[in-house]
Formats: sequence, C-alpha cells, structure tokens
Amino acid sequence: MLLYIHIPFCESKCPYCNFGSVVGEKSLANDYFNALCDDLNHQIKALKNPKFSSVFIGGGTPSVIDFNFYTKLFEIFKPFLQEDCEITAEANPNSASLAWLLGMRNLGVNRISFGAQSFFADKLEMLGRTHGANDVKIAVQNAKIAGFNDINVDLIYSTRLDNKKRLEKEILSIKELGVTHISAYSLTLEENTPFAKKDEYKKDSAYFAKFLISEIEKSGFKQYEISNFGKICKHNLGYWQGDEYIGVGAYSVGFYDKKRHYAAKNLKDYIKNPTLKEVENLSDRDLMLEHIFLGARSIAGIDKNRLDESALKNAEFLAKSKKISQKNGKFYVKNFLLADEIALFISNDS
Ligand SMILES: C[S@@+](CC[C@H](N)C(=O)[O-])C[C@H]1O[C@@H](n2cnc3c(N)ncnc32)[C@H](O)[C@@H]1O
Ligand code: SF4
Repeated sequence: MLLYIHIPFCESKCPYCNFGSVVGEKSLANDYFNALCDDLNHQIKALKNPKFSSVFIGGGTPSVIDFNFYTKLFEIFKPFLQEDCEITAEANPNSASLAWLLGMRNLGVNRISFGAQSFFADKLEMLGRTHGANDVKIAVQNAKIAGFNDINVDLIYSTRLDNKKRLEKEILSIKELGVTHISAYSLTLEENTPFAKKDEYKKDSAYFAKFLISEIEKSGFKQYEISNFGKICKHNLGYWQGDEYIGVGAYSVGFYDKKRHYAAKNLKDYIKNPTLKEVENLSDRDLMLEHIFLGARSIAGIDKNRLDESALKNAEFLAKSKKISQKNGKFYVKNFLLADEIALFISNDS
C-alpha cells in the first residue's frame, strides 16, 4: 500500500495550476497538521495490515512549511514503513532552503522533487513562477549537500514560448544539474484557472512531445511513463500498477477496497472534520478501464487477467498486428504517446 499526504499551502498561485492549494493561509498550518495527524491515525487504525511501500508528500508546496511541523506525522507512519521505503517530498526551488532540505532528510525523506518548469526567464514569468533558473541550480546543489541522491525536476513544455532549440537547452540545463529523474508535462489549460481556454499560451503538444521524449532519452533518462524519465519512482509506478493507497489531507484521494475515498476540498472544512471522506464505489468495469488506461501509458503494462472477454480479444488483435507487444501475460504499449488511443480501442466493447 502507498501513502499520499497533501500539503495544500502555496506562496502564490500559478495561473496554469488546478491542484488543491491555498495562498495566504499559513497561519492555519498548526491546525492543519493536527488534522493530518488525526486523519492518518484514523486511517491506519482502520487498515487490516498497514504497511507502506512508499510515501509521497505532495502539494501544493510542502517546502513552504517548516520541517518541524512534519515531525509528528513521521512518528505516526514510521512504524508502518516497509524496509527500503521511498519517501518523496515536493518542493519549490525558492522555498526549499538548505535548512528545510536537511530537516526533511533527517526525518527520513529520501527523494526530492523540484518544480523547475523552465530555465528561461521569460517562460518562468509567463508561467507566473516566483523563482529564476539559478534558484533551481542552488536548490539542487543544496539537496545534494543535504544528502539526497534521488532528485527529480518537473518541466512544463508545449507553451507558446517553446521551440526545438529552447527545449534542447531546457534538457541540457537539467542534464547539467546531475539529477536522477525528469517529469515533463505538456501544458494543460485547466478549467477554473486564468489559463483556461487561452489557446495562445499553448503550442502543438504532439509535435513537441515526440521531440522532447527523444531529447530526454538521448540525455540518458529512459522513459518509463508518458511524462516520466530516469530512475523509476516507486510511488508513481505504484499508481500505474493499480496499487492501493490512502490519501491524507484536504483535497486528497485514497483508493482501496474497490472504492475511492475523497477528503474535503476546502481547508477549513477539512480541519473541522479530517476523517470525513466521501466514498465512491467502483464497478468491475471502472476498475478494468482504469487498469487499461494506466497500464497502457507506462511500463506497468496491461495484465491479461484483468481484462474481460471483449477487451482481451481487442488486445490480442493489436498484439497480432504488432501494435502492442505481449510478454509473460501482459500487454505493453511501446509508444506511450499512442497510449490513450490504444486504451480506447482495447476497452471499446462495441
Ligand atoms: C502539484 S505541482 C507541485 C509542485 C510545486 N508546488 C511546484 O510548483 O514547484 C506538480 C507539478 O505539476 C505540474 N503541473 C501543474 N499544473 C500543470 C498544468 N496545468 N500543465 C502541466 N503541468 C502542470 C508542474 O510541473 C508542477 O511542478
Ligand atoms: S504549480 Fe505548485 S506552486 Fe504553483 S500553484 Fe500549483 S502547487 Fe502551487
């Protein structure tokens, strides 16, 4: 089982981002962390055999909260960690100070993920980021000083300011940092954000995706999911394999016992009632569709035994015509950019 902990505080709201986060509410951090502890204790108690193979502290921006706030949470979940458990924390380059990185490393975090987004000042400004390219370099150096060997940087591409030359430079800048992992996301114009429906911010995604994937791979980071490259993140791979997880925190989601468990999507409501979850039952077809779509876009693959008769027939048809490969009872998509199309074909029972 995986454990996800959501930290919904940000220093400013980026105009493209639709993740659950709030700005200017840091005075609620104490109450929020008390609520997180109640939520975590309550969920662990309800599990038959709690054992976590990975923990992901995501956001929002975990690095805007002093590391001391995390101590109690670690005390609660540490007895339930598997040996060699991966513990990731997300961080913004400007708020992840050396003191914060050292503090988190001492608590047990062993993987750090920085939202770099770009190394060009004009693109960072367009994305509403409050850091510069140099802050990413300093943050990565500090992470290494603090003892982190597993470091990820997030990049956003297919913005109106991207072209092949600039993307080559973005990848070179990341390579020079000496990190172990890259997450490269095509800009999504999310509903309810200032970027919503503003097509002028975006350029052709498929064209850039193909180019970027080959550039990243040439730099030595092997693709293992549509947006992820390099040393495999156990937590993310867990999601794509369909592993069960509990979600702790406002805006978080859990998935276990064939159900999704949603926490309050509002900070104050969550603080008032952190253990209250809305539960959604998933049908066998929902579970199969999710397995097909997640498996198609990653090296997790699609397990034959998880397919109904019609989906299995469709997958075997694609395997026969060499559109997908087949090994040890699983189907694999080679070109992840075609994953959604292939998943749709497999799941369509008409
Ligand atoms: C939940 S955010 C947390 C990271 C951290 N708060 C930061 O911004 O540095 C994780 C990543 O999602 C990506 N992301 C968020 N919104 C996106 C969007 N609309 N399109 C593409 N990528 C997005 C960004 O690369 C971001 O670093
Ligand atoms: S991208 Fe990161 S910093 Fe920006 S609003 Fe989203 S979670 Fe906060």
